[in-house]
Amino acid sequence: MHVNLHLSMFLVVAACGAAPPPAAPAPAPAPAHAAEPSHAPEHKDHDGGGMHHGFKNAEEWAKVFDDPARDAWQEPDRVVAELALAPAMTVADIGAGTGYFAVRIARAVPRGEVIATDLEPDMIRFMTERAQREGLTNLRAVLTPADDPELAPGSVDRILIVDVWHHLGDRAAYARKLVSALRQGGQLVIVDFKLDAKRGPPAKFRLAPADVIAELASVGLTAKVTLELADQYVITTRRKP
Ligand SMILES: C[S@@+](CC[C@H](N)C(=O)[O-])C[C@H]1O[C@@H](n2cnc3c(N)ncnc32)[C@H](O)[C@@H]1O
Repeated sequence: MHVNLHLSMFLVVAACGAAPPPAAPAPAPAPAHAAEPSHAPEHKDHDGGGMHHGFKNAEEWAKVFDDPARDAWQEPDRVVAELALAPAMTVADIGAGTGYFAVRIARAVPRGEVIATDLEPDMIRFMTERAQREGLTNLRAVLTPADDPELAPGSVDRILIVDVWHHLGDRAAYARKLVSALRQGGQLVIVDFKLDAKRGPPAKFRLAPADVIAELASVGLTAKVTLELADQYVITTRRKP
């Protein structure tokens, strides 16, 4: 693998909170400044203040996102429980990456569908192949632009966004599009890193839960922290009336 990709991935991993891939050049924990986006070629700030990473080479990222060790701090079953799923629901997993949550949700909605979005074409390719491999015919991976989830109005029952909210640029504009995609009774669940988390993005990109709740309130959603994990908060909106 090219050294720039190694470096970039190491910095991103340090930022996003998972263990570095085995081939990463420096096994020691990265100092906080090493995770600064400006230090890596693929990193830059969005205009709206969100953090942008390149997430190419899905196979390498799968070693990180789907590392079984993640389960201990991520507690995926507790996160999925927050979605209060029913078997025929349609669920959007925004910025689904390699499908860590999308495959779990797909199994929980056998008569429904998971729309797993990402802006990285290689993640879409990877998830499509993963769904085939794991026999999940109800998982559809969809390439979307950074500023639009491209969900049809009133088309989904649940939306999950894990470790992605802090990557978004104009979050209020994005949230408005998510709200319009929710069906009546629909809910949005956001998981992101606490300000004092041991893992996660650099401090300047972390979002206080109160700020995320205020962003959701600005688009008409009432939300609160419904679960606290070791390093993350889980924010759930009240059902859309
Ligand atoms: C830290 S990873 C999290 C992946 C997955 N949610 C998980 O928990 O394993 C962030 C993912 O979000 C994607 N992403 C970042 N900004 C996005 C956007 N505006 N729209 C869609 N996907 C985005 C990235 O390409 C990457 O795959």
